[in-house]
Amino acid sequence: MSKEQVKQIFQPNPEFAKNASIKSMDEYNTLQNKAIENYEGFWGDYAKEKLDWIEPFTNTVDESNFPFVKWFEGGKLNVSHQCIDRHLDTRKNKAAIIFEGDRGDKQVITYLDLYYNVNKFANLLKEDFGVKKGDRVVIYMPMIPEAAYAMLACARIGAIHSIVFGGFSAEALKDRIEDAEAKVVITADGAYRKTKPYMLKPVVDNALKGKTPVEKVLVIERNNEEVAWVEGRDYSYNELIKNKSGKCEAELMDSEDPLFLLYTSGSTGKPKGVQHNSAGYILWAQMTMEWVFDVKENDTYWCTADVGWITGHTYIVYGPLAMGATTVMFEGVITFPDAGRPWQMVQEHRINQFYTAPTAIRVLHKMGEEEPKKYDLSSLKVLGTVGEPIDPPAWKWYYEEVGSSKCSIVDTYWQTETGGHVVSPLPGATPIKPGCATFPLPGIMAEILDPETGIKSEVGEKGYMCITKPWPAMIRGVWGDEERFVKSYFGDVKKDGKAVYFTGDGAVYDKDGYITITGRTDDVINVSGHRMGTAEVEAAIKKHPNVAEVAVVGKPHPLKGEGIFAYVVLKSDDGVADEVEEVKAINKIIKKEIGNIALCDDMLFAPGLPKTRSGKIMRRILRSIAKGEEITQDISTLEDPSIVAKIADMVKS
Ligand code: WT7
Repeated sequence: MSKEQVKQIFQPNPEFAKNASIKSMDEYNTLQNKAIENYEGFWGDYAKEKLDWIEPFTNTVDESNFPFVKWFEGGKLNVSHQCIDRHLDTRKNKAAIIFEGDRGDKQVITYLDLYYNVNKFANLLKEDFGVKKGDRVVIYMPMIPEAAYAMLACARIGAIHSIVFGGFSAEALKDRIEDAEAKVVITADGAYRKTKPYMLKPVVDNALKGKTPVEKVLVIERNNEEVAWVEGRDYSYNELIKNKSGKCEAELMDSEDPLFLLYTSGSTGKPKGVQHNSAGYILWAQMTMEWVFDVKENDTYWCTADVGWITGHTYIVYGPLAMGATTVMFEGVITFPDAGRPWQMVQEHRINQFYTAPTAIRVLHKMGEEEPKKYDLSSLKVLGTVGEPIDPPAWKWYYEEVGSSKCSIVDTYWQTETGGHVVSPLPGATPIKPGCATFPLPGIMAEILDPETGIKSEVGEKGYMCITKPWPAMIRGVWGDEERFVKSYFGDVKKDGKAVYFTGDGAVYDKDGYITITGRTDDVINVSGHRMGTAEVEAAIKKHPNVAEVAVVGKPHPLKGEGIFAYVVLKSDDGVADEVEEVKAINKIIKKEIGNIALCDDMLFAPGLPKTRSGKIMRRILRSIAKGEEITQDISTLEDPSIVAKIADMVKS
């Protein structure tokens, strides 16, 4: 057994645990054992209890065509009905969304307001744009309530939305529009960042240049800056919405009708359109909200993510609204006007659950260590993190200074493909070890397996984080590419001879069975909690005419978690004279092809790359060099072993 750190354990606050939805580890174990003994019964009962079925389902799960799995077949429902209509009897005047704009402007949207806004939006899409069930609609939006209306309006009429994060470039947006064959784009003129307007519509205009499947663009006028207008293609939401009826019948959807696509990075240059379907996704979004954040009827919950990522889908919009909660949406930047902004918001809105990423916690800690002290944060009960493992100093500050040593910190492990949390503490039950995602949630058969044998990993032995049984919110497909779906997720690990879902992450058990995620095992890096494919960045850099070869790796970064390190081999060496210009030129291409989020933190102009004789770039060696580690692996079989020392010297100097 490898040496194991003795970690301090933090017990849930007993006062909090008394009223928690899951109150103890005994309760957790009872639930998980129920799922193990009667998997279909477990999920079938919850689906009946939690979802408002318009027609009941007849079969809980059909695995006969694994990994193409069907949940709750025969059932009919509508996700927007689940998130809005069914709450109107009991919560019509309750705040569904509390919006805070960048400049401090505020808006409270009740469930009844939400109902009318979404119905009108749905009517607009249907009547003016001819959007029908199954059509793809791309949403490229800032963090404003209309983004949520757009999502729910699509859900209401059965259109499949595909949100593209507003930080992606025109090229990246174009690729995603084309892959999904979207006929409509919903965007905004722009929004505000640090009180200044920034623009989105011009990016859409660029993305639609040339041949495009898009017929119509809907523009929400948020900052009223001047934008170009294409006659017959572009329409103002603010104008069209005026005369729409506030009633739009929700489309009757099958359990397995697609709800949305969300593109995410993989190990090739082309992003994957992860597909989630209706019933299973919304069921798990709601259940995890109730279990992991323990949101109560009068609580106010805030997740700082962007709707462009899965966290924004499941834990700003779908999960909170499905359970009838109050969700806060924030347009601004959490460190503006200073690093006290989130705490000021917690105080003002009396936030009870706060969910963010370790990278944000590190930045808030560094820029405003003393800021939490200035505000009344006593409303907080649960603090969440997501996106990457949380490091001990950040954890400690979050726990002590933000949570006053009384809030549970839920380190939620999941990914775009899992739809919702899969491994996470339960705030009233799980004794917490900092940096540990702890245990699989009830119903999730997550196990760390040895990739070779498929046997459960021993304590202290790194294995692959797998999920051995299909779960309702699992990815249903990669849009337009069945083979990639099967290969990407079910090709690596077999348990008892049967393929199981592999997350792409490594993980390890400690002696108490706690799970610690150790990071990706593939060529995907995690920059500020966002997944970035090294192949995607490489493909962008290769577009520079003077680049002969490139290899991109991740390197630990004090704030971002991982930073992007590019080794670039130029075609001609005269570029070295103006290296600074070359870096600028390459970053400009990255910005154009992907967006600012993929800009390189380090770039090294190398004389060559370490390769095997068959031409495979040894990224492992490059990762070690980037970290400044001694190279211990055998390099004698490389095509040119001397290159390793040369590059290592350059990195050191
Ligand atoms: C990847 C998924 C899930 C929403 C945000 C990112 C890493 C996620 C944790 C955590 C350690 C984590 C994994 C995963 N990750 N949460 N609590 N501890 N690592 O979604 O872009 O699909 O990325 O983020 O590597 O595979 P995503």
